[in-house]
Amino acid sequence: MKLLSDKTSPALGKDAYRLAVTPQGVHLASGGREGRMYGLVTLQQLQDQLAAQPEGIPCGVITDKPRYPWRGMMVDPARHFIPIKDLKKFVDLMAYYKFNKLHVHLTDNQGWRLPVPGYPRLKSVASKREESFGDGIPHEGMYTRQELKDLVAYCAARGIEVIPEIDVPGHNQALAAAYPEFFCFPKPDMKVRTVAGNSKELVCPQKPEVWKFYAAVFKELKDIFPSNTVHLGGDEAPTELWKKCPLCREARTKAGMKDEQEQMRAFFAKMTALLDKNGQTPQFWYEGNADIYHPGETVYAWRQDQARQAIEKTKKAGLNLIMASNEYCYLDFPQFPGQYNWGWMQTTTLQKCYELDPAFGKSTAEAGHIRGVHAPVWAEHLPDLNHLLYRVYP
Ligand code: ACM
Ligand code: ZN
Repeated sequence: MKLLSDKTSPALGKDAYRLAVTPQGVHLASGGREGRMYGLVTLQQLQDQLAAQPEGIPCGVITDKPRYPWRGMMVDPARHFIPIKDLKKFVDLMAYYKFNKLHVHLTDNQGWRLPVPGYPRLKSVASKREESFGDGIPHEGMYTRQELKDLVAYCAARGIEVIPEIDVPGHNQALAAAYPEFFCFPKPDMKVRTVAGNSKELVCPQKPEVWKFYAAVFKELKDIFPSNTVHLGGDEAPTELWKKCPLCREARTKAGMKDEQEQMRAFFAKMTALLDKNGQTPQFWYEGNADIYHPGETVYAWRQDQARQAIEKTKKAGLNLIMASNEYCYLDFPQFPGQYNWGWMQTTTLQKCYELDPAFGKSTAEAGHIRGVHAPVWAEHLPDLNHLLYRVYP
C-alpha cells in the first residue's frame, strides 16, 4: 500500500493519528512522533493480516489514540537471565503492539543483574546460582553498563522508555549471599536461591553500609537510564526479621514507631530522599496498605481480586495507580485451562486480558488517578525467549 501523504497535525495530540485508506493509497496524519509510529504500526498490522486477501486492506478511516499514557510490560531477567539480543526481540514485539514502557526487574532472590562499581561480589556471587529447581545446571548472567545503554537506545528509537527495578527491602536473597552484612542477621553461608518463592531476608535500614550501597546503585541507574523513574519493588517483604533485629528494635523505640509497618514507611521515605538527590522518583508494587506510601507516588495494583479496592484506596491516599492486576495482566500465567500452572496460577485467556477495563467502569472523578496498564511476565518458569514469547503471545 502506497503512503500518499504523511502529515503532522499537532491538534490531534502527540500520540494520536488518523489513517485514511483509499483505493489510491494511504494518507497518514499524526499529532507527534509517537502518533506517527502508532499510525505506521497500524498500517503494518493491517498489511500483515489482510494484504494476502485478494481485495487487499479495506478502505476506511481510523482515528486512534491511547486511552492511557502508561502501557507497560515487565520482564524478569532476575529469575532467568535474558541476553540483550533476546530483549531486543521482545521489544520489537512490544513496539508492534504499541507498548511504551519496558520495566526490567533486575534483582530478586534468584539473581542480581546490574553491575555496581565498588561491589564486585554482585557479579562473582549474586549473579550466579548453583541450579534451578534441582536440575543440577548452574545459571548465571549479568548485564554490562554498555549493554543496558544499548537497550535504552534501542527502546528509545521505538518510543519505549526503560524503567529499571531494584526490589527493596525484600526479594533479596541473592544480595544476601553476596553481602550478608547488609541484613539484620548476617548469614555467611547464604546461597542465591535456586527455587521459586520468597525469602525472609530484608536489608537492615539501620546499617549505614546499606545506604552507601543504594546510593551507589541509584547513581549507576542514573548514568544508564535517562528515565528518572526507578521501580523500588516493595512487594512481599515479611517484617519478622525487622521485628527481632536489635538495631531495628532500638530505632523503632527511639522514633516512637508503633510497628514494623511504620518502619517500612520511614524506609521508603528515606529511599525516596536518596533517589531525589539524583532527580529520580520511585514506584512501588501496591501492598494494599496505602498508608505506607506518600502522596503523589505511583504504585502498581498486582494482587488478585484487589483491583477495585486498590482504585478506591489509592485515590483517597493521593497516589497514582498503574493497573497490573494479576488475574488479567500476568502474562506468564497459562492461557487456557489445562496448560501447566505450577499448581497455583489462574488461567488468563486472551479474552480475559481484553476484558480488563483498568477503571472497572468507574468515572474520571473516581479513577482519574489511573495512569495506565502493565503486563508483568515473571520468569521463574520461563527459561528462555521461546518460553517467554509462547506465554505472552498465544
Ligand atoms: C509480585 O508479583 N510479587 C509483584
Ligand atoms: Zn535490622
